[in-house]
Amino acid sequence: MTDNANFSLSGKDFQYPVLSGTVGPDVVDIRKLYGQTGAFTYDPGFTSTASCQSKLTYIDGDEGVLLHRGYAIGDLAEHSSFMEVAYLLLNGELPSADELSGFENTITRHTMLHEQLATFYRGFRRDAHPMAIMCGVVGALSAFYHDSTDIHDARQRMIASHRLIAKMPTIAAMAYKYSVGQPFLYPDNSLSYTGNFLRMTFGVPAEPYEVNPAVEKAMDRIFILHADHEQNASTSTVRLAGSSGANPFACIAAGIACLWGPAHGGANEAALNMLHEIGTPEKIPEYIARAKDKNDPFRLMGFGHRVYKNYDPRATVMQKTVREVFEALNVQDPVFETALRLEEIALNDEYFVEKKLFPNVDFYSGVILSAIGFPTSMFTALFALARTVGWVAQWNEMITDPDQKIGRPRQLYTGPTQREYLPVGSR
Ligand code: CMC
Repeated sequence: MTDNANFSLSGKDFQYPVLSGTVGPDVVDIRKLYGQTGAFTYDPGFTSTASCQSKLTYIDGDEGVLLHRGYAIGDLAEHSSFMEVAYLLLNGELPSADELSGFENTITRHTMLHEQLATFYRGFRRDAHPMAIMCGVVGALSAFYHDSTDIHDARQRMIASHRLIAKMPTIAAMAYKYSVGQPFLYPDNSLSYTGNFLRMTFGVPAEPYEVNPAVEKAMDRIFILHADHEQNASTSTVRLAGSSGANPFACIAAGIACLWGPAHGGANEAALNMLHEIGTPEKIPEYIARAKDKNDPFRLMGFGHRVYKNYDPRATVMQKTVREVFEALNVQDPVFETALRLEEIALNDEYFVEKKLFPNVDFYSGVILSAIGFPTSMFTALFALARTVGWVAQWNEMITDPDQKIGRPRQLYTGPTQREYLPVGSR
């Protein structure tokens, strides 16, 4: 039996149905609220608002749980490949061995970019941020792949999804190559999704490139950890852009733009910069004090999360992966020691404990990515590459949702009421 939420306004009573998902908090269905009461709800940042129904990802922030289609992120990161997770998110089930090789084959066939796009890159300054290039190039895909922009055609939607997942490593690697002045490398389809990306990024045409299996595994795991994260800011941006019927390439470009911000995907870059700025463990207390000072805008980057009020389960896997990569590459970076010490101090500090601020996925990812050889400016581009899987899966889910409508939030207007217009000479 459906429960109801009672609501009274201006002396009148109203009832709204309470909907239950398979797990997680119930939601009050207020779709009729405005029609019946003439009032809106006010919820900046959507802290209490479910914007859609979804079957993809579940987060229990208090318990530190993250599930994709019901599977725990720890299990997926340990046992699956990024391609398996991509298949899972897109299709709802883990693939059989045959389904996986079919999917890998499909993605592999779409890794090349239209040749003219290489010219498009040359329009950017050499010092352009890779995310600026990603926004531009991904948006431009809609000008190159007209045969997969009809959002009402399920086959075209799937082709666009495969193209986006397949081409993103090529686009990101080319953004990197462009910034360092090296020639673009074409994809090598004999390699894995992740191995191919590493080769396109770090290889050069002058000599063969050997993919380091430990780095390939770590990178693949990092991609898994970033694949999807429920209705976060960039995913909501993709859904909102898509709700107007915009083509998938334009929607993903919008997601990339949103992800770029330092409070979202840009945090891994900011976290590593912060760790470098702190430099040595002795300087940690100074930065902790700054993070707690209300008059100082400084925040501990890589700490805190809108949803996780317990340890971010992705950070646990990430911390383990740092050790594996350092061992495989024989790296000793004092910045990792600073990160471990900072985490320890913050987790024992009353301010962070009380506000439930824990390391998030971005706290350690920068340390690993830099050990692998990526410049900080590429970190968010790698996040975008991986999150494309979640974005396209969420976009597909939205398009096929019978409840889907154009997203159109309302507002609490606090500006002037109507007033008399005075021509410029009379003001
Ligand atoms: N350092 C110091 N204080 C913090 C921090 C931090 N990193 N994060 C939150 N706080 C404090 C904040 O000042 C506020 O204090 P008060 O209640 O006294 O005003 C309280 O904790 C709640 O913060 P909030 O900003 O209202 O929380 P939010 O849910 O709106 O923000 C967040 C979440 C992730 C934007 C925020 O924690 C933050 O800015 N963290 C640093 C950036 C970061 O690491 N972002 C990556 C997020 S994970 C990757 C992703 O999903 O994209």
